[in-house]
Amino acid sequence: MKKTVLVSGGAGFIGSHVTVELVQAGYDVVIADNMSNCDDTNYRGVCSILGRELPFIKMDFCDGDAVNELFAKYRIDAVIHFAAFKAVGESVDEPLKYYRNNLLSFLNVLEAARSQGGCNVLFSSSATVYGEPEELPVTEKSPRQPATSPYGDTKQMCEDFLRDCVRAYPGVKGIALRYFNPIGAHPSALIGELPRGVPNNLVPFITQTAIGRRECLSIFGNDYPTEDGTCKRDYIDIVDLAKAHVCAVTRMVEGRMKEDYEIFNVGTGRPVSVLELVNAFEKVNGLKLNYKIAPRRPGDVVAIWADPSLANEELGWKAERSVEETLAAAWAWEKHLAGK
Ligand code: WQD
Repeated sequence: MKKTVLVSGGAGFIGSHVTVELVQAGYDVVIADNMSNCDDTNYRGVCSILGRELPFIKMDFCDGDAVNELFAKYRIDAVIHFAAFKAVGESVDEPLKYYRNNLLSFLNVLEAARSQGGCNVLFSSSATVYGEPEELPVTEKSPRQPATSPYGDTKQMCEDFLRDCVRAYPGVKGIALRYFNPIGAHPSALIGELPRGVPNNLVPFITQTAIGRRECLSIFGNDYPTEDGTCKRDYIDIVDLAKAHVCAVTRMVEGRMKEDYEIFNVGTGRPVSVLELVNAFEKVNGLKLNYKIAPRRPGDVVAIWADPSLANEELGWKAERSVEETLAAAWAWEKHLAGK
């Protein structure tokens, strides 16, 4: 029988890509989103890719009654919780907004999972929990560092909520996926990242500069202790990342977990500097980008990349797309948005 996966935040960047991969892998998906940080572009894109409508519930996960009703209405085999605020800088200015939304929504998911006698819960975590790592690449055993923003705090706290609930409530099982830097778009160019206002993240800033919406990309610092002086990250293709969720959900619903709470890094294991990324974007898309060197951005870590071997071995998942393919997809999406 088909299994049903509830995807909170399913109209967002990661949630929409995960929905497509889940449905294509044979799952029934229920999307829930309060649309606070997006419009219906990605939901419509998902329906176009799949050739049909999916159940969509507009609701806020901070409303505990609504979450319980949702679990009562659908027989949920697994829930993937994406619904959260994600702007690091804003979380420093408005910590209460972040604590209330990101923590309460996840507590409501856990409450519902417990009340229905158990559920498989996949939490959308982040490499931000590692802070500035002492050793590279980072494994799941690398220590978490004190978070440098309320956003990062909420990721650490939610991981702990999940660990403790799995320990306490029979039938509740959990996986936390720690994403490195998700980038790119679906090869159809029908879904992708839709930042509101000025993008904080590198790739949307690059594509918006290339299309002419921004004048110039600022590269934040070229005096870091790396080969070319710019920071290094592990950029993971959004479709590869989405596939990791399918592997994790399948491991849970098929009862193949080795422990009731598991953590996996989702990255490529391949460090790429800001300049390398910019050069790759120019080369693969055959254009020149207007950029300048600017001062360092406060709070940036010098370098971080994953050791993804645990996910490779246990989930049977591996990042497949090259950074060039991913940057071509990101550019196709930007052009799609601009109607070009
Ligand atoms: C990547 C690199 C910048 C913009 C953040 C969050 C993390 C997460 C993903 C979110 C850095 C440089 C950037 C620009 C630049 N999770 N850069 N010019 O900071 O690694 O991670 O996003 O939901 O929690 O912290 O990603 O894309 O912002 O930056 O030079 O205009 O690009 O300095 O080295 P980051 P990013």
